[in-house]
Formats: sequence, C-alpha cells, structure tokens
Amino acid sequence: MNHDEFMRRVFAMSSLDKAERERVERLGVAYLSEVRRIDPLTRVRSLPTYEDGGLEKVFRAVLRAPDWDEPSLRAFNHFLVGHIRLDSDPEAGHGSLCRHLASDDSVLPLWSAFRDLLVGAAPRLAGRA
Ligand SMILES: [Fe+2]
Repeated sequence: MNHDEFMRRVFAMSSLDKAERERVERLGVAYLSEVRRIDPLTRVRSLPTYEDGGLEKVFRAVLRAPDWDEPSLRAFNHFLVGHIRLDSDPEAGHGSLCRHLASDDSVLPLWSAFRDLLVGAAPRLAGRA
C-alpha cells in the first residue's frame, strides 16, 4: 500500500475531534502546497537527506513518545517502524538506493516545511532539540 493511502486510513480512524482533525488537515494541505512549489530537481536532491537517515532520526524521536494507546496511533507506530526498516536496509533500503544523488543546502526549504508541519501538528515540540 502506498504511504499516502496508509496514512489517509490512519488519519480517518483517529479519535481527533472535528476541529482538531480539520486543523491537522489544513497543515497537511499547506505542507503539500509548499513542497509542490519547490522545483523538481531540488526535490530529487532532497531524497537522500530524507531516505538515508534523515527521516529515521525524526521517526525514532517520534517513537520515543510515551503514549500509543489509541488504534490510529498504533497504526502510525507500525508505519514509522516499517519505514525505518525500509529506509535503513543496507542493500535495498531507500537510503542505499538514493545515496548516490548529490544534495546541497537548496533542500533546506523542504526540511523547514517539514519542521513547520511537525511543530504545527504538535506545538509542544517547538523548542525541543
Ligand atoms: Fe523511505
């Protein structure tokens, strides 16, 4: 199953109330809009920064959250653990498959948008390192 379809289903089973669901959905729409404004070459350059360890660091930090006692959160946990496994396989992982792509600081706006999405969705993350 594609990531976006899996996450759409996870979000649909969430116990978030309507207002919170709409707020998070607006954040997602804004994130996608911002990412899609960035030129394709820069987006390609960003792949190794995400897939070769970047997302793994973020996902491992998220997995340190103490409370997963909700069906959608357990599904999200499954997604994070699975994605770490897919990225980090030394032979066929996403990281090893895109490691040859050259990256540079032009990808910073993508990571800034990702940070803004995370902090917007979980404002208590702001200021933590
Ligand atoms: Fe990946």
